[in-house]
Amino acid sequence: MKTTVLLTGAHGQLGWELQRSCPAKIELHAHDADTLDITDAQSVHDAVQALKPDWIINAAAYTAVDKAESEPTLAYAVNRDGAHHLAAAARAGGARMVQVSTDFIFDGEQGHPYRPNDAPNPLSVYGASKLAGEIAVHETLGDHALILRTAWVYSRHGHNFVKTMLRLMSERENLSIVADQVGSPTWAHGLAHAIWQATAIKLHGTHHWTDAGVASWYDFAQAIHDEARTLGLLTRDCALRPIATTDYPTPARRPGFSLLDKASSWQALNISQPAHWRAQLRAMLIELGTPK
Ligand SMILES: NC(=O)c1ccc[n+]([C@@H]2O[C@H](COP(=O)([O-])OP(=O)(O)OC[C@H]3O[C@@H](n4cnc5c(N)ncnc54)[C@H](OP(=O)(O)O)[C@@H]3O)[C@@H](O)[C@H]2O)c1
Repeated sequence: MKTTVLLTGAHGQLGWELQRSCPAKIELHAHDADTLDITDAQSVHDAVQALKPDWIINAAAYTAVDKAESEPTLAYAVNRDGAHHLAAAARAGGARMVQVSTDFIFDGEQGHPYRPNDAPNPLSVYGASKLAGEIAVHETLGDHALILRTAWVYSRHGHNFVKTMLRLMSERENLSIVADQVGSPTWAHGLAHAIWQATAIKLHGTHHWTDAGVASWYDFAQAIHDEARTLGLLTRDCALRPIATTDYPTPARRPGFSLLDKASSWQALNISQPAHWRAQLRAMLIELGTPK
């Protein structure tokens, strides 16, 4: 018997990776905002009632972190209310749900990796709206919900730090990159596989998933540069200079320390050798350089 899954945010980075890594035993119904706007409660209810999915995977989100500071109403409409509409429809239809969330629910003041139960304290509208979405999903679905927090996501598809860096590095001779924010770069491809594994074992509760290892944005940019040079994706060097967050002011405050403790998800998914972010970056860049 096939498992029926309704996916939202299908045209986003993660949605795209979930579609291309979808296991054969899954019957996937993928929607983006043009076919299912998650802020529209009635449309969400109707779509879920019509399909009667076993799972809803919510990869849709308002992800413009800086813009959210001036568009809080829209950020909350998508990240809190949209998640809540999906959870309510899932409950009415007896479905389980994966709600993808973010390291930005934490303030980054802790000196060791954040465990799933550590106290949240978002610094930004984006982080607060995602936390509100987590709470709405958890309160509506209880053990029928998996809340999976991730961080620093990139993919061949969509907008992300890796592709922005490659463009800037090809245009400029030098770049200044923030070196005092650390986290774990995460290839959406690996995250998508983890989500499919998690649904197969009906994982629930709150868990974390990123690639293994630690980097600052400066480390990440240097790795992108060096790997891209080796692979011939960049034809000349670009000099990188580490700078402080205070030298690169942005509308939204970001946590300085964004490390997530993945022990619970790695144990549940039986992952003894998690992929390191640098190996994942190399794999993504090889893919980027391979004609489609
Ligand atoms: N990117 C990161 O670094 C990062 C880090 C931590 C956590 N996350 C979380 O990971 C998840 C996936 O992120 P991502 O990087 O794949 O995001 P993304 O590339 O920005 O994709 C988000 C998708 O959501 C869609 N969407 C926006 N508003 C919608 C609405 N009202 N109804 C239906 N769809 C809507 C967008 O469609 P349009 O393009 O048409 O607006 C887009 O296709 C999100 O929950 C995000 O919060 C991401």
